[in-house]
Amino acid sequence: MPFTANRQFKAHPRLLARAEGMHYWTADGHQVIDAVAGLWCVNAGHGRREISEAVARQLSVMEYAPAFQMGHPIAFELANRLAAIAPPGMDRVFFTNSGSESVDTALKIAIGYHRARGAGQRTRFIGREMGYHGVGFGGMSVGGMVNNRKFFGSSMLPGVDHLPHTLDIGHNAFSRGLPQWGMHLANELERLVALHDASTIAAVIVEPISGSAGVLLPPVGYLKRLREICDKHDILLIFDEVITGFGRAGKPFAAQAFDVTPDLMTTAKGLSNGAIPMGAVFTQRKVYDAFMQGPENTIELFHGYTYSAHPVACAAALATLDIYTKEELLTRAAALSPTWEDAVHSMRGLPHVIDVRNYGLIAAVELEPSAGTPGARAFEVFLKCFERGVMVRQSGDVIALSPPLIVERGHIAQIVETLSQVIRETA
Ligand SMILES: Cc1ncc(COP(=O)(O)O)c(C=O)c1O
Repeated sequence: MPFTANRQFKAHPRLLARAEGMHYWTADGHQVIDAVAGLWCVNAGHGRREISEAVARQLSVMEYAPAFQMGHPIAFELANRLAAIAPPGMDRVFFTNSGSESVDTALKIAIGYHRARGAGQRTRFIGREMGYHGVGFGGMSVGGMVNNRKFFGSSMLPGVDHLPHTLDIGHNAFSRGLPQWGMHLANELERLVALHDASTIAAVIVEPISGSAGVLLPPVGYLKRLREICDKHDILLIFDEVITGFGRAGKPFAAQAFDVTPDLMTTAKGLSNGAIPMGAVFTQRKVYDAFMQGPENTIELFHGYTYSAHPVACAAALATLDIYTKEELLTRAAALSPTWEDAVHSMRGLPHVIDVRNYGLIAAVELEPSAGTPGARAFEVFLKCFERGVMVRQSGDVIALSPPLIVERGHIAQIVETLSQVIRETA
């Protein structure tokens, strides 16, 4: 089982059998409120008929079409719809099937871009400690989650270095929204550029807000500073928006929420509401144009997946975008954020709570690790919450929350009340 304590699970299975709106139902009929949008992906809530009907329709019209040397209309329709909500200039889209594939695709595009411009020696990547960019060899290498890396030791991509992460509870505990301290951490990029020389570096990749490592927020001004340094040295900036894309941060993309435009942006998850696997890499027009040279009948990018722009996934994504637009879900997190912030910060002062952090409709409650067993306390909280009808996500000693963007105030109250009660009872 993926990222699962197999033996614990098999001894005490947690089986989800049905879903509707904000809720799952277990195989034995218990209702569970979904405080993590499945796995940060079901942004429009569960059981959306518009999506299942679009999928059924597409399956009956054309279940599959190849995207190598061929195309189909709804792939282009979807790309255009996505470009219309993307940050300025990001109007080229490459379709994948997951976040991990989006990341590996973006890394390859970055290398290809420099090569096409005569800078083939720019192959190095700069990631960040505690970053999560999926589980492909590229994403694992630029990522910075120790457990995801250490088992695979020497199989990392060569030529990767890492910025320091931005989590500093000493300076920023219980910040509401973006932390004030830490912008200077972006200057570490200058140090890495001086060490490796800009002429060897293809791209910097960061999550605007890290989710999987336990919700790490960018300090005020940090992302702008990264952008400035990348511009100065002609290094591409990649935002991994697999979690933050599609409304999580209160704008369609976190790039817009933070007013910093990257050169490439990786997405997945909320793109199709989790209904059908799909990812997309957005690029600035200049990146696309750099590849468009040489004889017209040559392939410009030697990369792609059998299921790139899968018609059924495209149909699911188009129906998802319709819901996002009609229900104004891509900005709803901004409107709800003050309520969300007050609710989650009410957990300050509970036993073992050493930090609460939030942005948009994301929050983390960090617990003091129990002596000698890091992660055990938060895992117990996760299990007890589930027993009491609330599904949260545990990462190390952090409980992460990211409900579907259709969440109402009553749901927020229920999630926070249950979590508070469980934290109080967990030694
Ligand atoms: C920022 C980020 N990038 C990439 C991924 C990998 O996505 P997937 O699991 O769809 O491969 C994730 C998954 O959580 C993610 O959070």
